[in-house]
Amino acid sequence: FTPKRLAGKRVLITAGPTFEPIDPVRGITNISSGKMGFALARACADAGAEATLVAGPVAQATPRGVTRIDVQTALQMRDAVMRNVLAANVFIGVAAVADYRPATAADHKMKKAGGDGLTIELVQNPDILAEVASLPNPPFCVGFAAESQNLDEYAATKRAKKRVPLLVGNLVQDGMGGDDNRVVLFDDSGRHEVPHGPKDAVAEAIVEHLAGMLA
Ligand code: C5P
Repeated sequence: FTPKRLAGKRVLITAGPTFEPIDPVRGITNISSGKMGFALARACADAGAEATLVAGPVAQATPRGVTRIDVQTALQMRDAVMRNVLAANVFIGVAAVADYRPATAADHKMKKAGGDGLTIELVQNPDILAEVASLPNPPFCVGFAAESQNLDEYAATKRAKKRVPLLVGNLVQDGMGGDDNRVVLFDDSGRHEVPHGPKDAVAEAIVEHLAGMLA
């Protein structure tokens, strides 16, 4: 690993899930430990970058030298990103953002009403990565695609649709929740396999590739 390859770069990263409240004690969320995003923030800081991490609710220690902003919801995550993105040279969206949120959150704990069921109206959340990538002067954008099948096909489509130069694909069965991961990097020059290994090592390999693309 070549040290300080991101010296002078400001990197903004999202990590973890978002939590979308239904009422004060319930909500909907995605399964995400935040480990990959935190490992990337650490690798960026180790490479000399000024790293800012916008984190959903996770139980992860803040890596040394990383500025952390904690958020709960996708809308809060988007706000925090938009407040910090103009200063960023690189944006890495690792967060597992909930695609939908309840249209309204109840102020008080909802009571069982009897009857058969309950319908909660959901509205779509903004796609933070796509919004950042379509800014007039976007930072260099890196996206993640966690798929359960057809990784190459879905990742290539996602990269084109969100217009990100670098997309990191992983099969959810390879990485979710665990300490290890296996990813494939997709860019204009094709696909690049990163060997299976601890998320810290995988993060270093991603940063190495990213630094090469920025150079
Ligand atoms: O479309 P999908 O959710 O699979 O895309 C994943 C990529 O987009 C990740 O980089 C993720 O952080 C980002 N994303 C986002 N905002 C959303 C949904 C996904 O930034 N609402």
